[in-house]
Amino acid sequence: MRIKLSNRLQAVARQIPAGLKVADIGTDHGYLPVFLAVNDISPQIIASDRGKRPLAQAEELVGLLSLENQISCRLGDGLSVFAPGEAEVVCIAGIGGMAMTEMIAAGMAQARAAKRLVLQPQRNVAAVRRFLADNGFRIVAEDLAEDDGFYYEVIAAEPGEMQLSDLEAEFGPLLLASGHPLFRDFLSLRERDLTRLLEAMAGNNSEESCRRKEQLEAEISRVAKVIAAIDAKAAKGGEA
Ligand SMILES: C[S@@+](CC[C@H](N)C(=O)[O-])C[C@H]1O[C@@H](n2cnc3c(N)ncnc32)[C@H](O)[C@@H]1O
Repeated sequence: MRIKLSNRLQAVARQIPAGLKVADIGTDHGYLPVFLAVNDISPQIIASDRGKRPLAQAEELVGLLSLENQISCRLGDGLSVFAPGEAEVVCIAGIGGMAMTEMIAAGMAQARAAKRLVLQPQRNVAAVRRFLADNGFRIVAEDLAEDDGFYYEVIAAEPGEMQLSDLEAEFGPLLLASGHPLFRDFLSLRERDLTRLLEAMAGNNSEESCRRKEQLEAEISRVAKVIAAIDAKAAKGGEA
């Protein structure tokens, strides 16, 4: 059976090296574990979720495809569903960045014993990057994916040291350096969304709103600077 993943989950799957044992935490439907199993990317996969209903969906799919020997479905919170060393790659996708960092902090023994973390935070991606730097991980790959006009950042991290500037935490050290084909569009969309938010707050002059507007203006200006740098680099490349 062919499993077609969304662009977002394909980007997550691309960061999983072949031949390693994987845990997909917050698996929900179980698409990623099934994709890894049927494509022989991973020999042994833990598919876990803290929700009974999502896990039941994953179990149903695994049963339908007779993949029970390869995929172990487990109900439970975060990384507590497996012992340190039982998974060599820990994937967490489609979950907010704060919840993700709390989950990794609570399961640090399992996270540190893994060879790689593959993370796709829905929000607060800068906080995830800072958390990784502060907790003995270094980012080894970053990717972007687009589905239906929404952009998603994917981070692969491994045990190690990393220094991050504020700019690198916000935009991604490797995305800033790589010239990823989607990076400019991703930033343009962010700039547009932030500008709309700022415009919507125009009539609100409470102290809190003014503070928020200042933050938004600063963020828009940082995004614009990165876009300008990409354009300048492209123009220079075009001249050569
Ligand atoms: C939006 S779904 C994402 C599903 C899939 N990972 C993906 O990216 O398509 C988030 C899932 O994470 C699960 N979840 C949230 N917090 C969790 C936690 N602390 N431990 C285990 N599962 C969790 C939810 O129950 C839900 O099924």
